[in-house]
Amino acid sequence: MSKQKIHPATSINGGIELPGDKSISHRYAMLAAIAQGTSELRHFAAAADCHSTLACMKALGADVKIDKDLVRITGHGLRESRRALDAGNSGTTMRLLAGILAGQPFASKLTGDSSLQKRPMKRVVGPLRQMGAQIQAREDNFAPLEIRGGPLHPIDYVMPMASAQVKSAVLLAGLFADGVTTVNEPARTRDHTELALEEFGAKIERHGLTTTIHGPGANGATPLQPRSLDIPGDLSSAVFFIAAASLFPESTLLIHNVGLNPTRTAILDVLLSMGAAIATPQLRSAHGEIVGDLAVKGTQLKGGIIEGHTIPLVIDELPMLAALGPYTEQGIEIRNAEELRVKESDRIAALADNLRRMGAQVEERPDGLKVSGKRVTPKLKGSEIDPRGDHRIAMAFAVAALAAEGVTTIRDSDCAAVSFPTFYAELERLAQR
Ligand code: S3P
Repeated sequence: MSKQKIHPATSINGGIELPGDKSISHRYAMLAAIAQGTSELRHFAAAADCHSTLACMKALGADVKIDKDLVRITGHGLRESRRALDAGNSGTTMRLLAGILAGQPFASKLTGDSSLQKRPMKRVVGPLRQMGAQIQAREDNFAPLEIRGGPLHPIDYVMPMASAQVKSAVLLAGLFADGVTTVNEPARTRDHTELALEEFGAKIERHGLTTTIHGPGANGATPLQPRSLDIPGDLSSAVFFIAAASLFPESTLLIHNVGLNPTRTAILDVLLSMGAAIATPQLRSAHGEIVGDLAVKGTQLKGGIIEGHTIPLVIDELPMLAALGPYTEQGIEIRNAEELRVKESDRIAALADNLRRMGAQVEERPDGLKVSGKRVTPKLKGSEIDPRGDHRIAMAFAVAALAAEGVTTIRDSDCAAVSFPTFYAELERLAQR
């Protein structure tokens, strides 16, 4: 099993460009495989998760050519895969692909690793069955999923939870349904699916929290056109470096070419409200997405409470925020985030356990946790971290370890490759000692 040692640092200095955004890469790969013709996707995510999506689309008949971060996908209409489709560790692959497969005139089996097989799928199986797909799941909730696709009818779906993956699964199924499918979200979530569908030529309309998509009819034909697209750097990965730089007063870090879609930037607002020094000198637009550089300086973070409608907008960044908690003045409290318990690991339990290993004071709650700040625990100690196979837990603690006393060892550190294969090398390159 891989192990990574993290030594204390004195500051984070230099420049970095992050691998392509994971959420956008998944969506472009899937839509490119549905479109007829060749799409070119530049700066495609290095994340193992997105390569799981590419492998699935290949198994479904698309030609996929990968040259470093340039991916060319030629779609000729999807066809049945001889093998089970393996989503690996990727919830996005499984849930979004379930939506697409529900509308295909063939049967598919979708599976994943042991973590993914424990994550709830009823949230997508339910609405897709309402649209007419036949789906079998273990205990009616877990992968493997057996999906017998076919002609779908449109639904008007009121989502019981704020989840971009559920919204996306229904919209992608709606692409193949005979009429107009509507999805209503209880709170805003990332809108990359909507932007990507528009970009590939689907007919989609948005009014507040309601999105409608027009399907072409029951014959499975879609109006999607191949596209040539640039993928911005992943803000959720950038957050580990913003956090690292924020830990040390002497830090100056420039992060180039980051995706700054407003449904993703709530984390910057949270950090700014805690006193972080982050500037966005110039913004530009790329295929409906907003892109810019981030200039970060070290400061003393105040800490605070994160709750309510902010939670779905910062869901992937909560591990890093929680792990920053002991270094803030007042500490960090996370509420209304029970969803964290069904991510790649039970992130609430994983955070509480590993923070305690480093000497932090933590109160674990069913829907979040309260991490005491500097006033209670002035110093953390390097220790052995068990990320429970979860990439974001491994990366969050590698960053927290930079400001601890002594050396930290991250067990099973390679799990970071799920989203960021070169994470430790980049952190090491920027860390001054
Ligand atoms: C994602 C949506 C979020 C997020 C996940 C990626 C996406 O999940 O946690 O990492 O790309 O749609 P939920 O939609 O389940 O909250």
